[in-house]
Amino acid sequence: MKKLNVGVIGCGAIAGIYIHNLKYHFDKVEVVACSDLIPEKAEEIRAKFDLKRACTNEEMLADPEIDIIMNLTIPKAHYSLNKAILNAGKHLYCEKPLCVTLEESKEIIELGHKLGLRVACAPDTFLGPGIQTVRKLLDENAIGKVTGFSINLLNPGSELWHPSPAFLYQAGGGPMHDMGPYYLTALTTLLGPVEEVFCYASPSFRPRDVRTAVLETTEINTNYNGLLKLRSGVYGNINMSFDVWKSKNNGMEIYGTEGMITVPDPNATQGPVYVFRGREFMAEINTIPREEFVKRLMFIHDGEEKYYQEEPLAFVGGNNMRGVVVVDMAMAIQEGRPHRTPGEIACHIVDILDCCDQSAAEHRVVEVNTSFEKPEAFYPVADGLWLGDLGTASNFV
Ligand SMILES: NC(=O)c1ccc[n+]([C@@H]2O[C@H](COP(=O)([O-])OP(=O)(O)OC[C@H]3O[C@@H](n4cnc5c(N)ncnc54)[C@H](O)[C@@H]3O)[C@@H](O)[C@H]2O)c1
Repeated sequence: MKKLNVGVIGCGAIAGIYIHNLKYHFDKVEVVACSDLIPEKAEEIRAKFDLKRACTNEEMLADPEIDIIMNLTIPKAHYSLNKAILNAGKHLYCEKPLCVTLEESKEIIELGHKLGLRVACAPDTFLGPGIQTVRKLLDENAIGKVTGFSINLLNPGSELWHPSPAFLYQAGGGPMHDMGPYYLTALTTLLGPVEEVFCYASPSFRPRDVRTAVLETTEINTNYNGLLKLRSGVYGNINMSFDVWKSKNNGMEIYGTEGMITVPDPNATQGPVYVFRGREFMAEINTIPREEFVKRLMFIHDGEEKYYQEEPLAFVGGNNMRGVVVVDMAMAIQEGRPHRTPGEIACHIVDILDCCDQSAAEHRVVEVNTSFEKPEAFYPVADGLWLGDLGTASNFV
């Protein structure tokens, strides 16, 4: 079957790893063109990856050879470009967030449906072996009935790692809007949609020296402490902050009646998955003499390692599989099946993010009204999407 052709709009920091993976690893689509507001950046990417052409956005939209356009621009540019891409008759893949507001996101989803075009959105990290191994464990009832979860991402901000991070302190940025989508996509694709949100939020560190500028204020909150209740009735916390110098409390955990799962970093596709089989640990504790038992209670970690084990991954894929969604969508188009990251997931995530801000502003519980159907588990070996091990490439290649 002929490979679908892909164009890339936005040749900034994240573009390289996408094109690298699509060109050198997946080999299921053809990246043919790229554009950027700054023509030199488009030309640089074209030359680096030996693409057919660098062009303007308008030329890309009018190009009959292109089937799918990847929008890798900054969040504020997503809505207008997404609309233009669909109206040009191209399938759309957009970096997160789909749009900055829920209304815009809904409009894009509806336009895609109306025009019979696919809409997919980042993050795709939940399709990696890390989160999919957690999915497998939950499906196999490894920790019994899920009773709760905890999400903590606490660090001093994007200036730590991004070459020009000012846009990450504008609408669509900050710890919740920039990093929240990874954690919330992992959470909701594993445990189902969110129903209610309660949140406190504020901007705490200011002024901020973001390397390219000193920001007296930020457009967005940079410190969030929230609670989420899922439609299943399960609830847990989400603490996202760019205003914490250091924390030993980072990560994501899922709790159940039989044990606990340590979820690997949802911002990467692969990482270690640990399961604590609490019920089995207690069963052993209950067999030991009283004096020994008291000692074990005082030093509860004694002997628990046996029950807190790293699980083998469901498949090996590498740490950075960016682009896998584009491949899944391209194959889904050709096979006439649904793709695994429909825009409805991204829309629900934008809804949750908005509700966090609304809850913080109005000091009340806010209902989340969007939802989505849980996607099929992903096992690329069986799906003919086997990539091999992509290794440990970073975001910047
Ligand atoms: N950098 C990362 O590690 C990273 C990781 C995950 C997701 N993302 C997401 O990827 C997107 C891009 O992030 P980035 O870090 O690459 O940003 P960036 O600022 O490095 O690059 C964005 C590029 O888009 C171009 N651009 C902006 N508006 C445009 C328009 N209307 N038409 C054409 N080009 C336009 C800019 O000139 C720039 O080259 C964002 O949505 C971000 O949330 C980035």
